[in-house]
Amino acid sequence: MKISFGAKFVSPKSGTLAIGVEEGGHLPPRAREADTATDGMISRALAGNRFNGKKSESLVLVAPSGLDCARIILFGVGKSMEEADWLSLGFRLLRAVRATGDKQLTVQVDCGGEDLATAAAQVAEGVKLGAYEFDRYFTTKKADKKPNVTGVSVQVEDAAAARKAFKPRDAVVDGVYLTRDVVTEPPNVLYPETFAQKCKELEALGLKVEILNEKKMAKLGMGALLGVGQGSIRESFLVTMRWDGGKKNQAPVAFVGKGVTFDTGGISLKPGPGMEEMKWDMGGAGTVIGLMKALAGRKAKVNAVGILGLVENMPDGNAQRPGDVVTSMSGQTIEIHNTDAEGRLVLADALWYTQERFKPTAIVDLATLTGAMIIALGHEYAGMFSNDDTLSENLEAAGKASGEPVWRLPLGDAYDKLLTSECADMKNIGGRAAGSITAAQFLQRFIKDTPWAHLDIAGMAWSSKQRALSPKGATGYGVRLLDRFVQDSYES
Ligand code: BES
Ligand code: MN
Ligand code: ZN
Repeated sequence: MKISFGAKFVSPKSGTLAIGVEEGGHLPPRAREADTATDGMISRALAGNRFNGKKSESLVLVAPSGLDCARIILFGVGKSMEEADWLSLGFRLLRAVRATGDKQLTVQVDCGGEDLATAAAQVAEGVKLGAYEFDRYFTTKKADKKPNVTGVSVQVEDAAAARKAFKPRDAVVDGVYLTRDVVTEPPNVLYPETFAQKCKELEALGLKVEILNEKKMAKLGMGALLGVGQGSIRESFLVTMRWDGGKKNQAPVAFVGKGVTFDTGGISLKPGPGMEEMKWDMGGAGTVIGLMKALAGRKAKVNAVGILGLVENMPDGNAQRPGDVVTSMSGQTIEIHNTDAEGRLVLADALWYTQERFKPTAIVDLATLTGAMIIALGHEYAGMFSNDDTLSENLEAAGKASGEPVWRLPLGDAYDKLLTSECADMKNIGGRAAGSITAAQFLQRFIKDTPWAHLDIAGMAWSSKQRALSPKGATGYGVRLLDRFVQDSYES
C-alpha cells in the first residue's frame, strides 16, 4: 500500500473520497467543491440525515453522480480535532474502505484545526496503523478477505510539509509492524535463537547488535535467567541493540524487554485452555525490537540501548523445580516457589546486566509480567511502577500524547517484605495479594539507584478485538509511547 500526499483538490478516478465536514453541517471548501460537482448531493444528504459533523461521526454516499469515485465518506471534524482524533480518523477510514473492496482512498484535509499539514501526517499514520495484516500462514484466502487498498492519497494545502512530518512517523509505524509481526509469529517459528537473528538483521539500519549465548551468560553468572530456560531444548540468549544517534560518550537510555517466546509455566504448568496465548509472552522484548527499529529508522538524536532476555519456559526432565535456589548475576539468591513466575527471573539478570554494562541515565523495562495486571487495569492502561517521579511523569505524558497510556501503581516496603524466603535472599512470588506490585518489588531488588520504570503490559500486548489504533491481535503497544518519550525527554 502506497501512501502519498497531494496539494490540490483532485477528484479521484475511482475508490473512496473522504471529505471533512464541520460540526453543524458546515461545508468547508473541498466539501463545497464536491457538492457542486455532484449537483448538491452532499447538501441534500446532510439535510436528510442525523449526521451533523461531530467528531467520529461519518456518512457514506454511494455512487455519487458527477464524480468518478465509487463513494464519498463525509467525516465529522467537530469543532476542532486533536492528534488522537486524526490518528483514529485515518485508522477508521482505512478499515471502512477495506470493507468496501475499493482500491484507492483519497482523504481531503482542509478543516478541523490550524496545522493541517501535521494533521494530514497524523491521518496517514492512522491509515498505516490500520492497514497492518499478518497472513503469512493462510494458504488460501477468500477474495473478500484479501487486502484491497493499494493506494492512499492525503490531500492538504501544504503537501510538502505533510510529507516531511510523515517521514519519521512512517518509520515509527514500521517499528510497530515489526513488533506486531514478532508477537504474532508462532512459537515454533519465533524462539530465542530466531528472535535473536531478527535483531541481528537490524544491523542493516545502523544498529549495533550483540548476542550472548548460554555459555557467555553462565560466565557472567546469570543463574536466574538461565534457570528459566534450562527445561527447553532451545538455547537462551540475551541480545543488546545499540543506537548511537546522540552525543558521543553520553550515557544511553535503556529499554529492557521480557522475551519468553513461550510460557508453559514450566513444572508449575499452566492449565491447557488458552495456553496458546503464551506465544505472546515475549511482548516486552517485541516492543523493544520495534522501538529500536523505529529509533534507527527515523535517525533519532539519542543514545539508546535495547536489551532482550530471550528464553522458552518448558517443563522437562531438566527443568527448574519449585524449591530450587538460583544465584542471580547480582549475587542475590532466589528460592523458586513457582516456575511460572519466570519473567521476573529473566528480567532480574537482564536489568542487572544493563546497569553494569551501560550505566544508563534511565531504564524502562516492559513485560507481560502478571495476569493480575489484567485484573487491575484491564486493557486500557499498562501498569507502571517506578522509583522516580520525573521519569514517571514523562512516561505518563508520552502515554497521553501517543494514545498508549500508562497508570502508575505504588511500590513500598510492606510489599517488598512479602518476598521474604526461609532459605534464600528472596522467593520469586509474593502470594495472591497485589500480585503485580510484588512482581515489580522483585524487579526493584535488582535496581541500584538508576531512575527506573517497569511497565507491565500483560493487558496491552495482545487484543482479542480491534482497538482505536490497532487491528485485533498483536497491538504493537509501547513502540509509539516510548518513541514519544525519547523524543520529548531526550531529543528536545
Ligand atoms: N506470562 C505470565 C503472565 C501473563 C498471564 C501475561 C496472562 C499475560 C496473560 C507470567 O509469566 C505468569 O505466569 N505470571 C504468573 C505469576 C504468578 C505465578 C505469581 C501469573 O500471573 O499467574
Ligand atoms: Mn509464567
Ligand atoms: Zn510469563
